Parts: sequence; C-alpha cells; structure tokens
Amino acid sequence: MKKLSIIQLLPCLLLLLLAGACTSQKEVTDTRQQRFTDGWAFRLGDDAAAARPDYNDSDWRRLNLPHDWAVEGDFDRKNPSGTGGGALPGGIGWYRKTFTADKADEGKRMRIDFDGAYMNSTVYINGHELGTRPYGYISFSYDLTPYIKWGEKNVVAVRVDNAEQPNSRWYSGCGIYRNVWLTKLNPVHVAQWGTYVTADEVSKNSARLTVRTTLENSQDVDAPLELISRLVDEKGKVVSEVSSQVTVEKGKQLEAVQEIAVENPELWSIDRPYLYNVKTEVRMAGAPVDTYNTPFGIRTFRFDAQKGFILNGEQVKINGVCMHHDLGCLGAAINTRAIERQLEILKEMGCNGVRCSHNPPSPELLDLCDRMGFIVMDETFDMWRKRKTRHDYSRYFNDWHERDLTDLIVRDRNHPSIFMWSIGNEVLEQWTDAKADTLSLEEANLILNFGRSADMLAGGEEMSVNSLLTKKLADMVKALDPTRPVTAGCNEPNPNNHLFRSGALDIIGFNYHDDWFAGVPENFPGKPFIVTESVSGLMTRGYYRMPSDSMFIWPVSWDKPFYESSLSCSSYDNCHVPWGNYHEGSLRHVKNNDFISGQYIWTGFDYIGEPTPHGWPARSSFFGIIDLAGFPKDVYYMYQSEWRPDKNVLHLFPHWNWTPGQDIDLWAYYNNADEVELFVNGQSQGVRSKGKDDFHVMWRVKYEPGTVKAISRKDGKVVAEQEIRTAGEPAQIRLTPDRSTIQADGRDLSFVTVEILDKDGNLCPNAENDVTFALDGSGFIAGVDNGSPISLERFKDNHRKAFYGKCLVVIQNDGQPGSVKVTATADGLSKATTAIKVK
Ligand code: GAL
Repeated sequence: MKKLSIIQLLPCLLLLLLAGACTSQKEVTDTRQQRFTDGWAFRLGDDAAAARPDYNDSDWRRLNLPHDWAVEGDFDRKNPSGTGGGALPGGIGWYRKTFTADKADEGKRMRIDFDGAYMNSTVYINGHELGTRPYGYISFSYDLTPYIKWGEKNVVAVRVDNAEQPNSRWYSGCGIYRNVWLTKLNPVHVAQWGTYVTADEVSKNSARLTVRTTLENSQDVDAPLELISRLVDEKGKVVSEVSSQVTVEKGKQLEAVQEIAVENPELWSIDRPYLYNVKTEVRMAGAPVDTYNTPFGIRTFRFDAQKGFILNGEQVKINGVCMHHDLGCLGAAINTRAIERQLEILKEMGCNGVRCSHNPPSPELLDLCDRMGFIVMDETFDMWRKRKTRHDYSRYFNDWHERDLTDLIVRDRNHPSIFMWSIGNEVLEQWTDAKADTLSLEEANLILNFGRSADMLAGGEEMSVNSLLTKKLADMVKALDPTRPVTAGCNEPNPNNHLFRSGALDIIGFNYHDDWFAGVPENFPGKPFIVTESVSGLMTRGYYRMPSDSMFIWPVSWDKPFYESSLSCSSYDNCHVPWGNYHEGSLRHVKNNDFISGQYIWTGFDYIGEPTPHGWPARSSFFGIIDLAGFPKDVYYMYQSEWRPDKNVLHLFPHWNWTPGQDIDLWAYYNNADEVELFVNGQSQGVRSKGKDDFHVMWRVKYEPGTVKAISRKDGKVVAEQEIRTAGEPAQIRLTPDRSTIQADGRDLSFVTVEILDKDGNLCPNAENDVTFALDGSGFIAGVDNGSPISLERFKDNHRKAFYGKCLVVIQNDGQPGSVKVTATADGLSKATTAIKVK
C-alpha cells in the first residue's frame, strides 16, 4: 500500500472539511418557484392519448425527477445513438403529474419552468398543448394560467422524443433530466429571469451597480409600484438599497433601471468567490406583491492580447477543463451533489475553469461555479446550419437559434463565474472552403434574418454568409450582455476562417493546433487569445503501455476507425489523438506564453459516449483526467503539482505488480522540491530532478517484487514520501464514503469508493472481483461504476466488478432520516461495511 506522510494526508483532510463546508443548500434564486419534481408517472413508449387529463396512468411507473431513462438501460451496439452516443437506449417517453391548484391562489399566474428536457419535448396541461421545444439543453417555460382549474385536479403531461438518433456527438440522456419548477406569481411581478445586474466603475473603495428589473403587469389596470432593490452581503446584511416609483401599464412589461452604490466592495475571485444578493421587492399600495433574488458577484476583468486574462487587476492563467453534462452512472439526470463532487475533485487538482461544452449547462452547475470559484465559458451550440450527426440541432437552427441563444444569455448573465460566451464549437461554417449551401447573401438574409448585421450587406462589404451569421450571433449576445466577450471554439486556426474573418469574435479561440499558437500575435494582431479546447489525451486509469517514452497517436486520423486489442489507452501521458497533444505538451505552451489566456483541457472527467479511439464495446470516453467513476488518473497529479504550489505533491506510479525481470518505467510528479530519489527494495535507483520545461521524472528499473519508494527533498530536507508495495492475492474489501453524513432530502448522495486489498491492506492493482452491495436503512443505490470505458455492465445495479482494483457505489437517501448501512461482499473476500448517517 502507498504509505502517505502526514504532509500528504493533510490536504486530503482539508478537502474533507471543505467538502462539508461546500455542501450547503443552494440559495433559491427565484423565491416564487416550488420544486415540481416528485411523484411523476412515467412510461417508455408513445401514446398520443396520454396527453388527455382523464388518461389512466395507474399502471405507469412512479418516479421523481430529474430522470434519465437511457442510463437505466442496457448497452447495445444496435441502440440508435451508436457508441458515439454511449450505446444506451433512446426512444419516446411520457411523463404525467397530477396536482391540485389551491383555490386560494385563484387570480394568480402559474408558470411551469423546465431547466431542460432531452429532447423535442411537448408539454400539455389538462389536454391543451402548450408547445414543443426541440433543443434538449435549453431551459424553457409555459404559462399555465389560462388552463388551470382552481381548487381542482390538474394534469401536466410531457412527451419527450429522443427516437431519432444520432443527434449528439456524445451521450445526451433521455427524458426530463433537469429540474422542473412550478412558479406562482401575483399579477404584478418580476418577469422570468427578470433582473440584470452589472457592476461598473469598480475599485477597491467603491462600485456602482446598475440593476435592470423587468416588471410585468398582467392586470387590466395600470400598476403604480414601488421597486426596492437591496444589496445584501454574505452575512445577510443590507449594505445598500435603492427605491423607485414606477408605473407599469396594464398588460405590459417595463424595464426599470436603478443604480446602487457600494462602498468597499468585496470582490469575487477564484480563491474567494464572494457573493452578494440583490433582493428585489415590488410593492403596490404599500403592500409587497413580489420578491426576487439575484445572486451576484462584483469583479473586474479583461482579456488582453499580451497579458492574457486579468481578474481584479491580476494576471490569472485559466487552467480549465471542458466538461460534458453526464454524471457517470447517474447519467444525465442532474444531481447537485454529484456536480459539486466533480467540481471539488477538479478544484483539489488546482483547476480553475470549466467550459460547458458544447451546450447550455444546468443552472445548478453555474450556481456551484459561482460559489466555488470557477471561470466559466458558457457555450450555446455544437453546430449551426451544417449538421454533424444525422438528426442534430442543425434541423432546428433556422427556426430556433434566436430564441435559444436569447434565452441562454438572459438566463445566465448574472452569474459572476461566467467570463465569456461561446457561440459555437467547431461549427462547420468556419472552414475557409465552406460554402454556405448554395444560398446567396440575400437568400440567407431572408432565412437567417441578419438584422443589424445586414447593414454590412447593404454597405456592400465583402462578407460571406457564414461570417455574417457569426456577426449576427455575436451582435445578439452583445445586445443582451455587453459586459462579456464573445468567442468560439475553432479548429481551423487560419485567419481566413469565416468566423475569424467576421471580426465579430472578441477572443480568438482555438481548439488544438498547438503549432499555430506561436503565430497568433502576428496572425490576429491586437486580439486576445484562448485555447478553447486542448490536449485530447487518451488514458485508461490503471493501464500502462511501455516504453513510456514512446508516443501512441491513435487513431491515425479522425475518419479512420481504430481497433487495438486491449481497447485500453496508456496512463503514462503517452497516448493522444492526432489533432491534439499530450498533456505536458499543451501545458508547456500555455504556461510559457503570457498571451495565452489559458486553456480548457478536453476533458476534466470521462463522459459517456465518444469512445475515441476505440469502437464497440468501448462506450465512454478515454479523454478525462478523471475517470467516469470520479477516480483520478495519474496525470491528475501532474496538474496538481503545477497548479497547487500550496500543496506538497509527490505522485509515484505505476503500481508494483509486474513480471520479475520486466523493465518498468516509474514516473513521479512532484513540486516544492529540488529532487526525487527512488528506491527499489531499499536500493537507490538514483536521484532525478525536472529540467525547466519538464513535468515529471522517470526511472527505468528491473522489476522485483517488494517495495518501491520515492522521496522528494528540498534543500536536503524530506518534503514527501510515497511507498508502493507488491500486492498479494485479493483478500478484503475497503469501503470509503466521500461523506459519512448526508441530508435526508431525497437527493443527497454519498459516493463510496470500493477497493480490493490483499491481506496486508495493499491495493490489488489488477483486481476484477465482482462486488455485491446490500443496503439496510434509509437509502438506495443510485448507481454503480468502475471507470472502465469498455464495461457493458449496467449502471443501475447492485453489483459491480472492480476495474484495476476499484469500483464505486453511489448511495442516495430516500428522504427519511436515520442511517444506511452498506455491506459489500465478493466471492473469496472478507466482507466490508460502512454506515452513512442521514440527517
Ligand atoms: C473536438 C471536439 C470535442 C471532442 C474532441 C475529441 O474536436 O470539439 O467535442 O469531440 O474533439 O478529441
């Protein structure tokens, strides 16, 4: 077993404390919303009659949202998503919920808010069709008021259609996979996402906030109102307030603009993400009629062509990762704790940025990034009009892009963690040789409504349809939020790229193309630059391919399928896709060049789908720095050694179970030390030090069973030690919950790491034992995983095989306080138990 010194353990203990501290309930942004997620009826399959209120759904399954039916299914290469979409089922499903609308609320407005449903959802209330929303990642709402029966039962029915696949290049999930809210409003109220707060003239001593509030009056008389906006600090103290008299005409909306002065503002930063709240109160005839909360942070920032990203006056390198939205064995069904755990693991690595690739994220992710201090790139689309997969959003782009883009920006623009908008990822319209179908500019203008951007058409400027579209989207974003720059992830680095040529992007964003980075200052004079996507290293946790100093570039090219017998990718940072780079390679560029604002590495966590470079039975990605179960791969510690100078890092790998006499490459990642010495069974194998541009040290040694040990030293003093022993036969199981107390809210989770150990407590690095879980008490198994990208075992089950010695069981509370005892058994091993308190 690795023996960790107390110096190494301390940060883990701190992380545990931090984890406890972070898991506070989120502040409900819209205080008028009630969770509308429990007690839905669900059936997989289509039946138009299910829209009718009197439809008999008594034999349907009962469940709580968020829900993803795909993750409950079996992997099958014949599933319509293909391996790229995770090889899980698609189809059409129906959800129904019956509720009573309180008679006392008659006269109020009632709205239903969906944070997201994948995809093509059609919503009905009491048999009335409210609308269909194609984009599966966007938030949307309907006004229920005209159809509500007050004091009676009402039925909401939702048809979700994800039958036509592929429509995504990764796993989308299926169903109402995000939260749903019922919002009750007085006739005079703040509109949905109805505040927009910006901070101007920010200094250490003062800031001026502009608060724009959209008020709605659905009465048939004008409404003279008092609008009060209070700035409340983290302790709940009102630090400043402003009140205005406004009149909203009957049946109209009005935007009221107020200013709030703040003295000595606390600034939002990565290390101290200070959040204020703007609390809105609307009063009519002296009585309050509505209140609304806007969490908000005050900070200054800019992107600079020479100095990169400047936050609150200081240069900050964006050390970010790209993330897809799935949560491993929980699928796409969002769970706040599961997202928080991902962010905690990333933060512990030293990561400070998240790119929501390549679609609108869940509101919970953004709330957590606000609270935990991440630099977010919020992204809209993976494609515009040119399709990437057969049934994707390109089908809807012409009709829906304005609405979807607008809703995203208006929903998200108060989040202090968001620092840039991306209007697209690798859209095919970028390519220099891309023809915009056969459309003339005039025809395109009719379809795409270039609006203000069309002046360029009239002005006779030479602009391609694709550049005009870029300009249109960027202009739309700027009109809704002039405070943040617009970028796009481009994989044609040539300045002739139609997106770059439009001149509309504030930040030049490259996906990959490290060889072109150096030319950016010359090719794009005066423009800030960010690596919107980088690396695409390929790794299977626990698998090592030697010699470690040979690079494996898989597949040979993006369009050539690749089959390699082991279906594994090496964890030595010596395997990557041809369009990418190895981790150290990209990091070197980003670290050594001030003009590079930072990078978003592809990816933080493995995700379901896109199992490049392999095909079936591979069904989830190899790209993550962290595997699908949340276990760090070795390169995690390379980043930690670079990004966490506050923490002494020493990470020696691989394990120490090989064939005697075999040549083994041992690597160490370390920081805060001058050198590392390696010992095999007490014999020194030499002292190694990193050169200026190195990120690891290596020894090639002959394997002999026993102990391998690394010691890092600074000025001759030991900084850290790590020891790995040859493990014997699997003998026992160890269970380690990430939290041993969770909340009895029906949603909170404990992630229990399961390790197979020998009789002396050493991790068995090749163990594959099938572990079965039994629960006793107030909880159930939300999912099981082991991080293997090629396992075809189900995510929803009561057992899982270990993969390179480890697996994971996720325990969810059932809403009852008490405790839940988890027992793990496997043939031939002594069993293990752990108890989780549910408060
Ligand atoms: C990029 C793309 C990502 C992902 C990645 C894999 O080109 O933007 O979505 O497919 O390649 O390397």
